[in-house]
Amino acid sequence: MESNALYLVYHGLFLPKVAHSENSLNYFETFVVQDDDIFIISYPKSGTTWMQEIIPLLLNGGDLTPVQTIPNWDRVPWLEETRAAVVMDKLSSPRAIVSHMPYHLMPSTFFSSKAKVVYIARNPKDVLVSSFHYHRMASFLDDPGTFEEFINKFQTGQVLFGKWTDHVKSWKSPDLGDRILYITYEDILFLSQDLRGGIERILCFLGRQLSEDALDHVIEHCQFKNMKHNKMSNYSLVPQEIMDSSKSPFLRKGIAGDWKNHFSPEMEAKFNAAINEEMKGSGIRFSWDE
Ligand code: A3P
Repeated sequence: MESNALYLVYHGLFLPKVAHSENSLNYFETFVVQDDDIFIISYPKSGTTWMQEIIPLLLNGGDLTPVQTIPNWDRVPWLEETRAAVVMDKLSSPRAIVSHMPYHLMPSTFFSSKAKVVYIARNPKDVLVSSFHYHRMASFLDDPGTFEEFINKFQTGQVLFGKWTDHVKSWKSPDLGDRILYITYEDILFLSQDLRGGIERILCFLGRQLSEDALDHVIEHCQFKNMKHNKMSNYSLVPQEIMDSSKSPFLRKGIAGDWKNHFSPEMEAKFNAAINEEMKGSGIRFSWDE
């Protein structure tokens, strides 16, 4: 497998060496998916950590203990990362598992299983901004360069897990039928002001029910202003030399539209044109395109 100082190159995708290895990718490829597994799938910086908080809460009746005692990377492990082999056996069924892989690279047993998928997409301009700041704070990622340089890297897929457009299109596969809930970060934020609408949609997809009281607790806990202080989810357990939150916290702003503070009108027009061109013919329309 090709690699450079920081990344493994897996089917043309950059994966940080800090968390991926040939062994972890072998584990990923040969993983036996169970029918009741629940996958959270996302392109990086689309709200993965948020889902790693919401979904375990919905699966366990709203009990806050796991999200307050288990770091998110062990609570809902990344299937392609080195921790997966260590913690997978400790998960109780149904297992909640996360991945950043595009659809076509999923393990072969995924395709023959009935495992459900919650896919979360986010406005690519906000993904790019979030990623830019992530590169500034994480020592295991390359320096993002100027914002303009980073736009170029993002558009050409020289970033984690390749091109955003390839990822969001891959998971629109019609083969998944009703196994997938394809939701956006913006849906969860805005379906109703207090997250209730977004969280109820996920609950319904998972075929679960919660008492009004438990739902209120989940909603309260998963608000950005509260989750930001959960040390099991805000990456403050990671040493500062690896993730330096004084440069940019991992749970940074938690809003939609921060791109407006970063893109000039020219950058935006050029970026939109390139993304629209790549999305042409896909039949996918997102709320931010309206
Ligand atoms: P920002 O950098 O724009 O703030 P991922 O987990 O996929 O890496 O995505 C990280 C992004 O999701 C960050 O975006 C982070 O702040 C945001 N996020 C995490 N938890 C959130 C929450 N409870 N509410 C809103 N946004 C959240």
